[in-house]
Amino acid sequence: MKLEGKTAIVTGSARGIGGAIARAYQREGANVVYVDRPGQFSQEATDSSILVEADLMDPGSAVVVVEKALGAFGGIDVLVNCAQASTQKLFIETAQEDWDLAFGTGLWATVRLMQEAYPALKAAHGSVINFASGAGITGQVTQAAYGANKEAIRGLSRVTANEWAADGIRVNVMSPFALSEGVEAYFAANPEAGQAAAAKTPLGRVGDLDRDIAPVAVFLASDDSRYMTGQTLMVDGGQVMLR
Ligand SMILES: NC(=O)c1ccc[n+]([C@@H]2O[C@H](COP(=O)([O-])OP(=O)(O)OC[C@H]3O[C@@H](n4cnc5c(N)ncnc54)[C@H](O)[C@@H]3O)[C@@H](O)[C@H]2O)c1
Repeated sequence: MKLEGKTAIVTGSARGIGGAIARAYQREGANVVYVDRPGQFSQEATDSSILVEADLMDPGSAVVVVEKALGAFGGIDVLVNCAQASTQKLFIETAQEDWDLAFGTGLWATVRLMQEAYPALKAAHGSVINFASGAGITGQVTQAAYGANKEAIRGLSRVTANEWAADGIRVNVMSPFALSEGVEAYFAANPEAGQAAAAKTPLGRVGDLDRDIAPVAVFLASDDSRYMTGQTLMVDGGQVMLR
């Protein structure tokens, strides 16, 4: 098992990509701290997992999450900042509350958890995995708040990869494309966007949470990626090719 003895915090893990990553980490022997909004969990805690209900928009939530992780398992080796909420609107219609939601659940939650977990990550020579999106990289219409937030997360990840390299902490980014519940809902509301996205994916299908996305998060958490930091991994069937 690739993550035996490690402890991981995975935000946004009541469902979707975060849920698939959390399950994969448990299968690989890790202790997992599942984090999501109150009322979202349908799973139960196990010997190797705890469920933490926290609204990551709340500035005090990071302290609680890290305290609970340390209380349950004594350390933090891996931090996966996967939670995200957003609205889709043309830029001209994007209001303060839309910016606040995208950045509050994305960048600010990521910043606070990285800062709060830093001492434990440093002690463990840990790995941070943050989440970006092709919508930000390519500038997809109606995604101003979400896309700007995701590109801010990539900028933060490169800076911290440099600053924390001396501490033995690696910081990488995944930019996925997968049929999570969130994407299903978006495609249901925007059918033409769903068809267009699948059609322009070179590997010809929307990614599977467990088989296509989670294994890459296991790789980034494990020593197999020990010589990688500051990178964005496109786990999207080739939809976006970085140059
Ligand atoms: N699925 C894709 O194709 C895709 C594409 C590009 C980027 N991403 C990114 O990958 C990550 C996972 O995406 P997904 O499709 O699984 O998303 P999702 O919407 O299915 O799940 C997101 C999770 O975050 C949680 N969350 C939202 N607001 C929260 C808050 N305030 N506090 C705590 N938890 C909160 C939700 O409850 C949910 O469980 C996100 O960062 C997303 O932006 C996904």
